[in-house]
Order: sequence, then C-alpha cells, then structure tokens
Amino acid sequence: MVDGQGGIKNASGMSGVRLEVDTHIITASQTNLKNIDKVFDDLGLENRGFVFSGKASSEAVLTHTEKELGVVLVDIGGGKIDIALYVDGSLSYSSSIAVGARHITNDIAVGLRISLDSAEKIKLHLSKSLLSREAMKKKTPQLDFRELNLPEDVNEVSLKTLVDGIIAPRLEEIFKLIFEEIEKSGFGQLVPSGLVITGGGALTVGMLETGKKVVGLPIRLGYPEGVSGLIDEIIDPQFATTVGLLLYGKRNIMTEKTGFKNFNRIWKDFSLGGQMGSLKNFFKQFIP
Ligand SMILES: Nc1ncnc2c1ncn2[C@@H]1O[C@H](COP(=O)(O)OP(=O)(O)O)[C@@H](O)[C@H]1O
Ligand SMILES: [Mg+2]
Repeated sequence: MVDGQGGIKNASGMSGVRLEVDTHIITASQTNLKNIDKVFDDLGLENRGFVFSGKASSEAVLTHTEKELGVVLVDIGGGKIDIALYVDGSLSYSSSIAVGARHITNDIAVGLRISLDSAEKIKLHLSKSLLSREAMKKKTPQLDFRELNLPEDVNEVSLKTLVDGIIAPRLEEIFKLIFEEIEKSGFGQLVPSGLVITGGGALTVGMLETGKKVVGLPIRLGYPEGVSGLIDEIIDPQFATTVGLLLYGKRNIMTEKTGFKNFNRIWKDFSLGGQMGSLKNFFKQFIP
C-alpha cells in the first residue's frame, strides 16, 4: 500500500509518504545455508543469494494466469516435498514436508523384498512404460521386468500388488499431507487452479489419479517452460527447480545491470546436451 492505496504489487518508482506491505517470509537453517555457501566457496564462486526451491520451480512451471487465479505448486523431490501456494499472483504460503519419492522406492523394496537399486529401476520403468493406471489395467495385469535384468527373481509381478498395493497407499499418504498443508495455509478456498505437480517424483505412476481423488482439486503435471533451445531431456519435471533458478537469475539478477555477461552462454551449453561437461566447468564460466 502506498499512502493507504492498496493492490500495488511493485511500488518502485511511485512516490508517497507511507509504505505498507503484507509479506511472506521464508526462513532456513543457518547451518544448511552455510554448507551450501561452502560448496560455492570451494568452487571459487560468489553466491548472490538463496531462492526457496519451491519458488524456483514455480518460475519454471506455473503460468501467469494460474498464479493470478490461485494455485498450489507441489515439487516432489527425492527426500522432501516443497509447497508454494499463490494467491492473487503472490506467493502466499510455503512449506516443506519431509517425505519424498525415495519413500516410494523404499516401499517397493520392502514390499517385493528386493534391493533399493532394483526397486528404483522398477519404479522408473513403470512410469516410463505405462502412462496412466487405466491404460495399464487394460493391457497388462501381470508386469514383466525381464528386460531390467535384476539380480532378484522378480520377473513377473502383478500390477495390482505393485501399483494398488504398494505405490498408491504411499501416494495417498503424500496427498493427505499436502491437503493438510493447504488447509493449514488458510487459502484452501482461493486456489481454483488447483495443484501443479512437479519434481522428479511427479512422474510416479498413478500420481494424477490419486491426487484428484484425495485433494479434490484440478491437478496437472508441471514441465519446465519459458526456455528455448534446450534438449528434450531438460523439459522434465525433475529439472523444474534448476530451470526455475536460471529463469529467476535472468529475471531478477540480470536487471541489476551488474554484469552476468555470460548468461546467454548457459542456454547455448544446454543445447549441447550430453557434451556439456562437468557441472564444475559449467559453473566455472561465471568466474571472471
Ligand atoms: N520417471 C520417473 N518416475 C518416477 N519417479 C521418478 C522419475 N524420475 C525421477 N523420479 C524420482 O524423483 C526423485 C528425484 O527427484 P528430483 O526432483 O530430481 O530430486 P531433488 O529435487 O530432491 O534433487 C527420485 O526419488 C526419483 O526416483
Ligand atoms: Mg527436484
């Protein structure tokens, strides 16, 4: 608000006497932040700031209209789920839940009595080979994992056991936790655009069906957008945060006119795909 006038998103350039703001503050553990800084120090890089990963992913997968209408971004990573809720175009609630896609792998390993490695292979194979649960049911009541060459004797597993018995219950639990967060935020009635699911775990088989059932809001998968010249592999939910961080830097840091000369090279290097070299070399180009 500038001098009592509300609804202003960016007051820079306006003149007035009294400035008021409703703000959303995200906090993080000092120890964790220091550890990240230390990694950058070792690489000889200066850290220009921290961005909550849920916010970064939002930059890459949410549309302007979704944020204006009200939407919940859900980024399902390996060990945690980030939630970023937008109302009226502004980030209004955020949180992290200590459950991730690795728990699904764990459940498969325990349920089928196989190693975590084999369980991860089965999980990825499932989401790649079978898109929706309905399509799966018609086609293959019995799943064949022979082509994975697993050390254990699990060449055939019933689809019902694996998807309905092991994966779906964990997804249900995950969505109940997400639902609780939305309730807790107090903005549950203000998110008509529903849920956008991203992060590597988004591709877990049965994700959208279970989500729709438990949360009862519209739901879609979020693929990173707003970038061009990238190879197909990067347009994958697991790169939502990475692409989002690049976009955040481009939108917020480049406007400071403080250099960042090599930014355009990032996009070129992305299109080189597999030949991009090590991550360290990738970052090294920013060192003057
Ligand atoms: N195609 C897929 N199907 C199901 N799960 C996947 C797929 N691709 C990645 N994952 C899972 O996503 C998780 C990693 O997600 P990611 O967003 O890369 O993690 P983080 O953000 O925590 O680094 C892993 O548990 C992995 O098994
Ligand atoms: Mg991720």
